[in-house]
Amino acid sequence: MCGIVGCTSRTGEVVPGLVESLKRLEYRGYDSSGIAAIGERGLGIVRRVGKIRELESELAVAPLTGSTAIGHTRWATHGSPTEANAHPHRVGKLVVVHNGIIENYLELREELTQRGARFQSETDTEVVAHLVQALWQGDLVAAVRSAVKRLHGSFALALLHEDAPDLIVAARRDSPLVIGVGEGAHWLASDVPALLPWTRRIIYLEDGDVAALRPERVDVTDAEGVARARAVAEITWSAEMAEKAGFPHFMLKEIHEQPATVSNALLGRIAENSGAIVLDGFALSDAELRSLRRICIVACGTSWHAGQVGRFLLEEDAGIPVEVDYASEMIHREPLLAKDDLLIAISQSGETADTRAALKKGREAGARTLVITNVAGSSMARDAAHVLLTYAGPEIGVASTKAFMGQLTVLALLALRLGAARGRLDQKTLARRLHELKTLPHALEQALALSDAAKDIAGELAAARDALYLGRGLNYPIALEGALKLKEISYIHAEGYPAGEMKHGPIALIDPSMPVIAIATESVTSALMSGNVEEARARGARVIGIVSTGEERLMKSCWRTLVVPRVPEALSPFVNIIPLQLLAYWTAVIRGSDVDQPRNLAKTVTVQ
Ligand code: G6P
Repeated sequence: MCGIVGCTSRTGEVVPGLVESLKRLEYRGYDSSGIAAIGERGLGIVRRVGKIRELESELAVAPLTGSTAIGHTRWATHGSPTEANAHPHRVGKLVVVHNGIIENYLELREELTQRGARFQSETDTEVVAHLVQALWQGDLVAAVRSAVKRLHGSFALALLHEDAPDLIVAARRDSPLVIGVGEGAHWLASDVPALLPWTRRIIYLEDGDVAALRPERVDVTDAEGVARARAVAEITWSAEMAEKAGFPHFMLKEIHEQPATVSNALLGRIAENSGAIVLDGFALSDAELRSLRRICIVACGTSWHAGQVGRFLLEEDAGIPVEVDYASEMIHREPLLAKDDLLIAISQSGETADTRAALKKGREAGARTLVITNVAGSSMARDAAHVLLTYAGPEIGVASTKAFMGQLTVLALLALRLGAARGRLDQKTLARRLHELKTLPHALEQALALSDAAKDIAGELAAARDALYLGRGLNYPIALEGALKLKEISYIHAEGYPAGEMKHGPIALIDPSMPVIAIATESVTSALMSGNVEEARARGARVIGIVSTGEERLMKSCWRTLVVPRVPEALSPFVNIIPLQLLAYWTAVIRGSDVDQPRNLAKTVTVQ
């Protein structure tokens, strides 16, 4: 899970621009970085351990120049984050950067060592450099085509050769790579935001593609050299949209974007006259939707929590049984899927290796497949039969917030669409539910006004060693997500629990040092939740209650409260997650952790 960039230009100096691009990919990994450039004095490389700013400082004292260059920001898989293991890796006149895992690297390493190769690093990547070098007969493109046939596993690769100074060769399999098209220049990157300062014209490479980038042209072929036609897409996100817009962190900016996220996800999906739900990209007919027997949701991390909320919505509105699996677990058992089942993969990035593998498994079993993703050209968006985009715009903070909100919105629409098709929701109910969804952004704005109150409570939470999050029903997954946010960015141990299970274990942990965050908004389970709050309080817990406006009684039982607007229970997860995101955010800020790039985590996990 690393970030790759590259540029070859007719006119100028490309290294400073590539450093900028690398910074926009730091969310993919940031334990070391490097750049290789071909300039008038030949091939030069600079690599540094640490964040991109370390590389930048080194380049300030030892500048690297050239009009063709590739760069990399690493998240270590094989070999610790050292300079020797940092990319680019060089063999003779050739350099390579890589994202992914070469599964047969040990066999290849042994074979190449026997043929005289001398390895400098512990990485799987270095075998690619030696392999291409061994196959090189004066033509880098041909050598890369031959080499990829020998590689098992996943890769996005970019290579330079000193004897071909205006050429970058790129290849992909199961790992994202995009090309930026300009006037007299072409760029390469793992993700679109890295290229937005330079161009909006993007080519999405697909699995098996080998691309040759030159300043004036791009040629894409398969490994046999057969040309593959790839369209150029116009990106509508502005560079500024991918930046912080005045907020101190991307995460805070993204938390505040959530009312717009809901509006964007609804945009164009509710027909003005008929009020029908129009889900472009999900083309199953009403008859097909009626014939569905079961839904299986697969996802990882925050997306899995969205799936858990989705289960409630789909079961309630569409009357269809729903299972939710961790993708990493589902792929190692027989999920018993058949053609009447719908497998829904939820993934912000559309690239998570486990979720992608689960999607493949569902497809192979003959199930219908749908991916809910934020990234239009992502691998999963191409793998699935049906795609629903969340339209949340680029999410940069590693801890996911607005993408989660987009996923919840799409799942709510999907549940209503299925409910209508399956005859569970009449016209009037559907119209009311859609109206409630459309007014949700207003309630989210009100919840965002809790930022200062959350900051105040965070001052106390920051000193805690552990925290317990409790919820019931639709808000149990929100308890899980709230706890995940806190641990991801503040490094405080936090657990989410169904409130009814508190008595079966966690209650033993409760004492005055343990904050208990109780999601106690208006619900059919309100009375039970109040009971749980009292039980925790009786053991000395400091209860932080997320409560609905007007719940005076509960407010008295809680040590602190965050009061959210009243919404129908089906929409309570959307509102309730906001104070929990803010609580985690401010706690992390107070503890001085790196909010946008928490230690050991990466935004996009493209290895299993
Ligand atoms: C990583 C990220 C999480 C994310 C998970 C799944 O662990 O840090 O924020 O929820 O991957 O990612 P996906 O892109 O599939 O939603």
